[in-house]
Amino acid sequence: MRRTASRLTWADVTPKAAFLNRRSLIAGAAGLALASPALAKLSYVKSRYSTDAAPNSFEDITSYNNFYEFGLGKEDPAENAGALTVDPWSVAIDGLVEKPGNYDLADLLKGVALEERIYRFRCVEAWSMVVPWIGFPLSQLLDRVGVQPGGKYVAMETLVRPKEMPGQASAILDWPYREGLRLDEAMHPLTILATGLYGEEMPKQNGAPIRLVVPWKYGFKSIKSVVRISLTDKEPQTTWNMQNPNEYGFYSNVNPEIDHPRWSQATERRIGAGLFGGRQPTLMFNGYGDEVAGLYAGQDLAKDF
Ligand code: MTE
Repeated sequence: MRRTASRLTWADVTPKAAFLNRRSLIAGAAGLALASPALAKLSYVKSRYSTDAAPNSFEDITSYNNFYEFGLGKEDPAENAGALTVDPWSVAIDGLVEKPGNYDLADLLKGVALEERIYRFRCVEAWSMVVPWIGFPLSQLLDRVGVQPGGKYVAMETLVRPKEMPGQASAILDWPYREGLRLDEAMHPLTILATGLYGEEMPKQNGAPIRLVVPWKYGFKSIKSVVRISLTDKEPQTTWNMQNPNEYGFYSNVNPEIDHPRWSQATERRIGAGLFGGRQPTLMFNGYGDEVAGLYAGQDLAKDF
């Protein structure tokens, strides 16, 4: 049984205060995983790439989402994503790769060692969260399919299935949602494909069954429910850049010094910090500068925003 099998979310039927208690009761009932309404547990090891910042609650992470395929409101994905079928799921891998194909997700994940990566996550809308993702480096998958020498960029696309994704009934975005990375960004050890969070398989509103997470870039680069990965020799088109090229560049690295044309990026509001949690300064590359600044040596980040 899956938590998201019905259109109701637990938040609808469980008072907020009881939510986490109940989850820990369920988690404590050893051996009852199949009988509980929880998503399947994943086995994983902890990663040295995790921050020690305190993760947001499961409830925050799964009830305040951006996933326009399910509506524009932050609560729409949790309300509407229940109808999404995530099994079976396949990912087309094509373009400049040695072993192109339509890969069944289960095959893609065979033999993959999952890790818990607790990452700071900074949305372009100037809020942030800390999320305990479960995933594996994108580089592992790219190595497995083999990038041809001409492959310079990685493009990804989200599922298009208007019957299950009500937001796709309108042309608010030019579907499919697409994103892209330069190959060195895609191969960076911080860049992961995530299949879960909080030790369980990915909730649908967070991009089940597989999504990208790039912690030094604004959240919109972290494309959800991926069905296509293409290796290209040219910078691929990306959804928000197509929508508004003056506001959203291809790189979209978190950068407190370069404001969005309509708001400041100097500070952020940590979701769940409460009324008096206040705002905190946004860090260059979301605090991952030691690891990733070298990727942009010699680039003018005001131009390549
Ligand atoms: N992926 C798809 N397919 N559709 C979307 O609307 N929104 C992006 C990103 N990935 C989006 C998407 C934005 S703006 C953000 S901030 C993150 O997903 C939010 O991820 P979360 O809901 O897991 O926090």
